[in-house]
Amino acid sequence: MNRGIFITMEGPDGSGKSTQIELLKEYLEGAGYDVLITREPGGNRISEAIREIILNSEYTEMSPVTEMMLYASARAQLIAEVIGPAIESGKAVISDRFVDSSLVYQGMARGLGVETVYEINKVAIGEYMPQLTIMLDLPAEVGISRKKDQKELDRMELESLEFHKKVAAGYREMAQRFPERIKSIDATLPIEEIYGIIKGSVEGLLGSK
Ligand code: TYD
Repeated sequence: MNRGIFITMEGPDGSGKSTQIELLKEYLEGAGYDVLITREPGGNRISEAIREIILNSEYTEMSPVTEMMLYASARAQLIAEVIGPAIESGKAVISDRFVDSSLVYQGMARGLGVETVYEINKVAIGEYMPQLTIMLDLPAEVGISRKKDQKELDRMELESLEFHKKVAAGYREMAQRFPERIKSIDATLPIEEIYGIIKGSVEGLLGSK
């Protein structure tokens, strides 16, 4: 059986990832794939329990290293239980956030360093690096104001504008560093236009199904 494909979707809070994930799912199904969508942190019972701890707005004392380890733990369980088996059985997996979120939020915005965070995450990920990562690029101010209209804010969303600016800048830096894997797209473009660019990037990954 052919191995599946693994695509991740990244972007600062409020960049419109969910809409594009749904469109991409339909496209991949049209190309003959069985599609699995998952999200981080979460996607299975243990990682969802870890998510409750990480995002709990009461835990303001959480250290950056604890935060990094918890995200990596949630990721390890998701790989072991969901992503790994799905790829091995030939599915197309789309993950709403993955390791680049840790590299940017914990490595860059929290200041732990991209190399340190990557080393820890290598243990969690093993061989399952995404083949393609779509980054929806949005100025931090726009992302935050879109989120603020929505609901109660979680521990990460309550971070300062300065923090979210570091996140947005971090994503841009990552896209420049890994241009062969990461496709950065202006998230202020119309939905259909963004979808067109994503389809163009995904086409090259599709095998004959
Ligand atoms: P969630 O509500 O799932 O995010 P969004 O709707 O913005 O995609 O919350 C996840 C939060 O956790 C988000 O603020 C980004 C952050 N995060 C990290 O800091 N590191 C990570 O490794 C991951 C996966 C997420």
